Amino acid sequence: MKICIFGAGYVGLVAAACFAESGNSVITVDIDKTRIDNLKQGIIPIYEPGLKEMILRNQAEGRLSFTLDMEEAVKASLVCFIAVGTPPGEDGSADLKYVLGVARNIGQAMNGFKIIVDKSTVPVGTADKVRAAVQEELTSRGASMEFDVVSNPEFLKEGAAIDDFMKPDRVVIGCDNVRTAEIMKELYDPFMRRQSRMIVMDIRSAEMTKYAANAMLATRISFMNQIAGLCERMGADVMAVREGIGSDSRIGYDFLFPGPGYGGSCFPKDVKALIKSAEESNYDFLLLKAVEDVNELQKEVLADKLVKLLGSPDEEQPLTGRTIACWGLSFKPRTDDMREAPALTIIERLLAAGATVRAHDPEALKEAKHHFGDRIEYSSNQYDILDGADALTIITDWHEYRNPDFDHIKGALRQPNIVDGRNLYKPERMASAGFNYIPLGRCGGGICGEVK
Ligand SMILES: NC(=O)c1ccc[n+]([C@@H]2O[C@H](COP(=O)([O-])OP(=O)(O)OC[C@H]3O[C@@H](n4cnc5c(N)ncnc54)[C@H](O)[C@@H]3O)[C@@H](O)[C@H]2O)c1
Repeated sequence: MKICIFGAGYVGLVAAACFAESGNSVITVDIDKTRIDNLKQGIIPIYEPGLKEMILRNQAEGRLSFTLDMEEAVKASLVCFIAVGTPPGEDGSADLKYVLGVARNIGQAMNGFKIIVDKSTVPVGTADKVRAAVQEELTSRGASMEFDVVSNPEFLKEGAAIDDFMKPDRVVIGCDNVRTAEIMKELYDPFMRRQSRMIVMDIRSAEMTKYAANAMLATRISFMNQIAGLCERMGADVMAVREGIGSDSRIGYDFLFPGPGYGGSCFPKDVKALIKSAEESNYDFLLLKAVEDVNELQKEVLADKLVKLLGSPDEEQPLTGRTIACWGLSFKPRTDDMREAPALTIIERLLAAGATVRAHDPEALKEAKHHFGDRIEYSSNQYDILDGADALTIITDWHEYRNPDFDHIKGALRQPNIVDGRNLYKPERMASAGFNYIPLGRCGGGICGEVK
């Protein structure tokens, strides 16, 4: 099938590579000239495991190309995907200017029947706006052409995006036309050969499904972070509690790890956008507002623990003269994405408190330099930043932090303090190795992360 994808970001590139991998002819369009020039030369703008190899292979075999020329891309394609950003506007609602801009571009260029697919995360009712924008362009051209608008929200996870796309749990298609649903089914069939996991529904329900999924996951995270806070204060161990509740098949184990708060390009903005959509429908989404408030507070917890551990009575800058080594900057492992990463809040808090901050991340150092410049020190070696530091704090659970050289860490730190925002280590083992180990929500077994 001939398809074009607007947006060469995380979603657009992964979708383009995977659709090309299954034999389709894919043109990827972006407005960012440098990005397109680089992609043409095989330089991939983001880090995502397996993506580079897949892009290079399909490019070499002539199934995948990159262009700035929207008209050419639309004319050559039956299906046009919209996978551009939907950042939060000032009031928290999803800003649809890029999505509707693409809809207009398609209306200006189309030369026959097209299926226009919203893959960006967009509020309920956006498909109607896309349809209106395309129709307006056709009318102003004096043209009359058929087209369908489909909602096909994307559920991939950064860090495992290729796998998620190639072997999806489900593909949601919001569609009001049987013929178009069949074409979408044909496009996705190669990804569900063992069993169809395609769920076809009306367009508005498909748009809502994406927000409901992210809101549910964010709710689980904030819920577990509050259980962790309570465990610390009541002498319980959140990891034991996780086991205890996760074994209930109605609950399950996923998304029940405490941490420094959720971040990334999706959860924070989608939670905000759903609260705003609810408001516009005169509905107060009390639960999600609390989820968001809890998350903002949670981003402060690691810095609070460090100030409590190392702070001087100086109220303004209690960490003056202290050096903190940070492991992990991206919002989660296996990505270089730092959008809304908890590390941004934590490090700003440490700097404001007067600390010297050193940071390591396997992929996000370049991104971190855009945020912090020379206000912090960076190293691509996780051990180099430890020399003489007063504490190590773990912000992101990259694999290389799971089983590190503890002797080296202890020998390098000025004081053997580890404040672990991901509960990577066993408190008993850390205590017997002579560390002052402060995890989240683990007071069981006589080892207390937070002394009240
Ligand atoms: N990143 C994720 O993990 C993820 C997962 C599921 C859904 N989503 C959703 O998918 C959408 C895209 O997210 P992303 O992370 O890929 O964004 P991104 O910021 O990585 O990429 C967006 C790309 O769109 C390009 N663009 C903007 N206007 C354009 C136009 N008129 N024509 C062509 N290209 C244009 C930008 O230059 C950029 O390269 C968002 O709505 C997001 O919420 C993202």
